[in-house]
Order: sequence, then structure tokens, then C-alpha cells
Amino acid sequence: MTKITFSRWQRFVLFIIGCTSIIQPMGAQQVIPALPASTQKIKIVWPAQVISEHKDLLPELELFQRYCNQLGIPPLKAGSTTQQALVLKLDQQMAPEAYAFKSLPNGSVELRGQRDGVFRGLMTCIQLMADAHFRGDKYLQFPIVTDQPAFKWRGMHLDVSRHFFPLPFVKKYIDILALHKMNSFHWHLTDDQGWRIEIKKYPLLTAVGSKRHETMVDKHFEPYIGDGTPVEGYYTQDEIKEVVQYAQARHIQVVPEIEMPGHAMAALAAYPNYSCFRSPLDVMTKWGVSEDVFCTKDSTLQFVKDILDEVCTLFPSQYIHIGGDEVPKTRWKQCASCQQRIRDLHLKDEHELQSYFISQIDQYLHKKGRQAIGWDEILEGGLAPHAAIMSWRGEEGGIAAARQKHPVVMSPGSHCYFDHYQGNRQSEPLAIGGFTPLEKVYSYFPIPEVLKPEEATYILGAQGNLWTEYIGSPDHAEYMMLPRVCALAEVLWCGKQKPGYTEFKSRIRKHFQFLDRIPAHYSKAMYSIQSLVQRNAGTLSVSLSAPFPDGEIHYSLNGNEPNLQASTYQQGDLIAISSSKKLKARYFENNRPAGPLLEEEFEIHGGLHAQIETNIPPAEQYSLGGIQKLVDARVGHLPMVGSEWLGWSGKDPEITLRWDTSMNFRVFEISLLKQEESWIYLPAAIEIASSLDGKQFTSIRTLNQKEIQDNSKPDIPLRIVLTGEPFQFLRIRLKQNSVIPDGRPGAGSPPWLFISEILLN
Ligand code: ACM
Ligand code: ZN
Repeated sequence: MTKITFSRWQRFVLFIIGCTSIIQPMGAQQVIPALPASTQKIKIVWPAQVISEHKDLLPELELFQRYCNQLGIPPLKAGSTTQQALVLKLDQQMAPEAYAFKSLPNGSVELRGQRDGVFRGLMTCIQLMADAHFRGDKYLQFPIVTDQPAFKWRGMHLDVSRHFFPLPFVKKYIDILALHKMNSFHWHLTDDQGWRIEIKKYPLLTAVGSKRHETMVDKHFEPYIGDGTPVEGYYTQDEIKEVVQYAQARHIQVVPEIEMPGHAMAALAAYPNYSCFRSPLDVMTKWGVSEDVFCTKDSTLQFVKDILDEVCTLFPSQYIHIGGDEVPKTRWKQCASCQQRIRDLHLKDEHELQSYFISQIDQYLHKKGRQAIGWDEILEGGLAPHAAIMSWRGEEGGIAAARQKHPVVMSPGSHCYFDHYQGNRQSEPLAIGGFTPLEKVYSYFPIPEVLKPEEATYILGAQGNLWTEYIGSPDHAEYMMLPRVCALAEVLWCGKQKPGYTEFKSRIRKHFQFLDRIPAHYSKAMYSIQSLVQRNAGTLSVSLSAPFPDGEIHYSLNGNEPNLQASTYQQGDLIAISSSKKLKARYFENNRPAGPLLEEEFEIHGGLHAQIETNIPPAEQYSLGGIQKLVDARVGHLPMVGSEWLGWSGKDPEITLRWDTSMNFRVFEISLLKQEESWIYLPAAIEIASSLDGKQFTSIRTLNQKEIQDNSKPDIPLRIVLTGEPFQFLRIRLKQNSVIPDGRPGAGSPPWLFISEILLN
């Protein structure tokens, strides 16, 4: 990047040469997050000049120029006049981060705000300039608006423990946030698989804890397969300071996370004395949750406080993230010190012990003038007096905390986990699971309707999380983050004023050119074709919808790659599926493939003719397609993508199928998922009962847990041979264990039950 030097510091001018100022109505402008609606804009010719009327704004101006250079956008030039320029004005009366464009009598454009507001405004200018540049426009058009964020916490998280990301990438990540007006970077620095921050008092944290001897291959949990390749890396304190400064210059807070009392294996591998049993431990090479956690004894609390002393000197942020998620209580139940602590303090159980641990740290940070923030599990056993909550297991934790008048950052897995799939299994890299496409992120609003207005004031905003178990490189991290972070940025900046997904999608499409200039990797999953299976009087048909109206879909049913010669899909067509088949379809623009391949395999069976009902709907985040999905001829496969399965947790579904006449099936199959490391369990029992009238049901088969386990094979539906008796109704009761057993990931929480298809033949 070219370093800009300024000749006159008092009044720095980047000038729009020969500009004219015209007030005219405004259309939607190519900026993300979207600008407020405006009826007027001021038009100036560029290349242009810019003036800062205040010396304090020179760092923002310099950064702006750097970004322009980096993105290959002709930067505004230094000038010496206030005539028809972009004039930066410091205005301490404006709200934090707010900025305004105003036209000045001399034809100039004024950008006014506090320092952070002017910086956000300059990020708007960059996108306006990039758009004009890409279109070859001779004018820049500034809307006459005041723009300000709806939410004050607009964050993105990065897990550098599961995979280490080098310093230049961390800075690039911060740049991507800055360019989209995000203001918080949550740096997840420690976990079971690696300690990544130098702590001078405890050198083994990095000497031992930053290294693991290998990494688990894909999802080979059981039997475990490792890749044999050592992984290591950490940030020195000097590097940390560099990142904090880098972010500060971009008006982004860096919130460090030091995980406790769980997710602490890397620390315990270095200092096993701080565990309950002091035996040697290794930095984990497998994903998941470790049973070994910090002991609650005084020496461990002191160790953690010592670490936080150094963390607080490195990070000036008000909030210090202390983790608190996924803490198995197994060791505490067996540990003499922990049990003594429970007795001494008259605690009810290990949840209250966790609350004790967190409260100690909460108080310690409070005395240092800081505030603890933790994952929503820290509500269990009682919330520490000063702690803020980051709500990830849905919004319930956030709701509870807001009602207790504690600050909340929403980050529910359903909308904010960018380690989830964003498109279909065939065209996306292996991910942890889930399904969080761009539209879902865009649909988010962080204030739950159940909150009263006063309670809602505790919702600071939201954050996207990027856990990196399955993300091993910077390119891949960018791909998972983009364009989803653009959607989240708009959700959080625009709030209720966001323009809507269809309009956003067309802006994103143009924004790819901007991302190319960074240059950053991004997913084009939003170009996916959506398919809808329709069952009607025993026939199965599929309708498709294109991502944009200006291209076309080509498809095949013979297994061939759909090219321009393949059938063209016309909107509204129903593609009849009369026998088990594979449908392949792709979206084309200008006669070129423009999106990922849609590949659907249909398995025709007798259940497709049935009406289906359930007593309990699936959980919101695993409910795509509704209960009809269980008889849509599409069997889910591994790796698990959340869009292919319906999920229930804590509730036992009873599913009933009804045919128009009595039927005579010989085989029942149900496609179930077993992925215990993700809390997804086979049911504890399945009872199948049939009926001719829908009232009187006769049990035809009950499978207990052992039979289900013994007869289940990965990726193949569970098969049960029926008696051959006719029936018109079939009722399937699925019973789950109430909680995940001790010693397993998610122990103590209800397991998930996942079903993708119920087949009858
Ligand atoms: C989390 O995803 N375990 C906070
Ligand atoms: Zn202990």
C-alpha cells in the first residue's frame, strides 16, 4: 500500500477537481450496510479532493486513503481549497458512530461526526467511490442523510485455537469488518486445542499449550483418525498490542476470550496442577468438549486471575470474555477440593459451583474496572452480579439475562453461526453441520418480541461466530464469513430500516466486485436454485426457483451435468418424478454457469401418498420444509447439512401417516442420524402402531435402545419388516433419553433427535 504524506496538517484537502454540485432525487445506492432512504443527493465530479477541518481526523483520513489505494480506487487528492471538496468536520454533538452528509454552499460535501462517525462515513465514501469507479462514472453521488447504527455491538468472532491464523490474516479480518462498519472483534484465543496468547507469568501456556501433535481428520471421531501433522502458533504480547492498535485505528474494539472453567485443556496440558486430579493431560487433537476442566480450588482461581491481569493490560476493552460454555461437571463431582468448596459455601450443586467460579472472576474484573461477558451457560446456578451474556444456544439465555437487567449480545446458532453450511452439501466444503444461508442471517433481528421495551434496552446487538474446527485456512475462513457478515452488518446497522432480502441480494451481487478488490474469498451459495417438492394425489413433482430473474435454469434427470443444451426450466413448471431419480440443475447467466449445482436424489416409496402430522413441530432451527419433509422422497445423507433434517430436542415426537385407503406395506424405514459429538442421538425407543380407522391403534413393533443401536448403520435408514397386515394409519412414537449421559459431549442437556425421511414399501 502507498503511504500518503500530507503537506499541510491543519487543513488537508482531497479535492474534487472541476466539480459541480447538483441536488437530485436518489435511488438505492450500492453500499452495504444500506444507506437510509434519502430524497436528495449531491453530485460531484471526481477524482476529487478532501479536506479535514480538524487535525484529529487525520488518522481516519489516512486510513481511508490507504483503503482506496489497496482497493485500486483512485484516492481523493490532497488540495488546498475548501471549494467543492469532501470536507471532514468533527462534531462532538453527534451520537457515537453517527455521521451526516450535507451539501455546502460552495458545492462541497460535508461529512460530519465524531471521530468514529467520520470513519464510518468514510467507509460509505469508499463503497460509493468503488461503485462509481466500477461503472466508469465521472461523478460521485453523496446522499444528504444522517446515518447511524441501530445497535452498538456489531460483532464478529474468530476462533484461533482450533486452527491458528497468522497475524496478517487477523488484520485482514479486521479490515473486512471495518469496511462493513462492524465495530467489535471477539478474539477466541484459548480452547482445548490450543492456547494462542503469550502470558509472561506462565510461559508453558504457549511453550506447551500452543502445540498439538496432530488434528482429527474430517469427522473421524470413532474410530479416531488423526492426520499426524503437528499444529502450533501463538501471538506474542507485542503482536497482540499491534492488533489492538490496528483495530482501534478502525474504531473496532477487540474483546479477548480466555475460556474458563471448561475448554481449558491446552492450559491444563501446560499446568496440570490446576485441574482436579493433576495427572498429565494433552492438548486435544479431537474436536468436542473435554471432561477435564479447571478445578475450583484457590490456586486455580489465582492462576486465572494472574492471566487476566496480563490480558487486561493488553486489551483496553470494557468487556473481557471469560467463556463459561460447555462445562462438564464430571471431574468436580469426583474432586475432593471441589466437593469441599460446595460444602463450605453451602452450594446446592455443581451448577452453583460453576456460578461461584464465574462470580469470583466477575468480581475480580469488576474491581479492575472491567466487565465479564460469558456464554449463556453462566446463567446456570445464578448469574454473576456484573456479567454480560452472549446468547448462543438460542435466544432464551439472552432473554433471561435482559430480564435480570444484564447486557446481552445475541449470537444464536440458528442465525449467527457462520461455521454452519450456507448452501447444499454437494457444493460446499465440509462444515460442522447446521444450515445458515445468507437469507436466514439477513432475516435476523436481535431483539426478541417477548421483551418489554425497557428489557430490550439491554440487548446491545449481535455477533457472528466463526468456530474453526473445520476451517483450516484464511481463504476458507473468508469464504465462511462472506457474504454472511455483510448481511449481519446490515441487520445491525440498519435495524428495522433494512430494505429487504430481494433488494439486498442484488446489492450483494454487485458487492462481489468490491470484495474481489480486497481481495477476499466468498461463497456464491446465494446463487443456489431452491427446489420445492410437491406431493399431489400420489404424484411427485418438483418446482425450482432461480436466485435472480435475469438468468435461466437448465436441468437434467439422467444424471448428466446440466449444460445449455439440457432442458430449460420455465418458472412455474412442475418436473414430474415418476421413478427414483437424480435431478441436477444449475443457474446460468449470459449462457455461463452462475451458481452451484443442485443435485437431488429422489426415492419413490409408498409413504409419499400419505398425509402426515406430528404432535410436536420440530425445533425452529431444524424445521426447514416442515413435517412434510419426512415424506418428500429425499433421504438425508452424511455429512449432515441442517437443511436435510428435522430436529427435536427435549420433546418426543409422535408422527402419524394417513392414506386415503388401506395399504399393504411390507417394509418400514426411517432415516435417523447418529452424531453424538454434536449431541444428536438415536432414539431410546421406537414404537410403530397401525390402525384402520385412526382411533384404534395396534402396536406392530417396538424397538428398544439396544435394537435400534444394533440395527443402525451410518447413512442407511433403519429398516423394519412389517407383518403384511393392511392399515390406513401408521403412528410412529419416538422416545428420547431425557439427558445426554455423563462423560459424553453435552452431558446433562437433552439430546437431539434428527429424522430426514420415513419410507414405506
Ligand atoms: C459455543 O458455541 N460453544 C459457545
Ligand atoms: Zn476440583
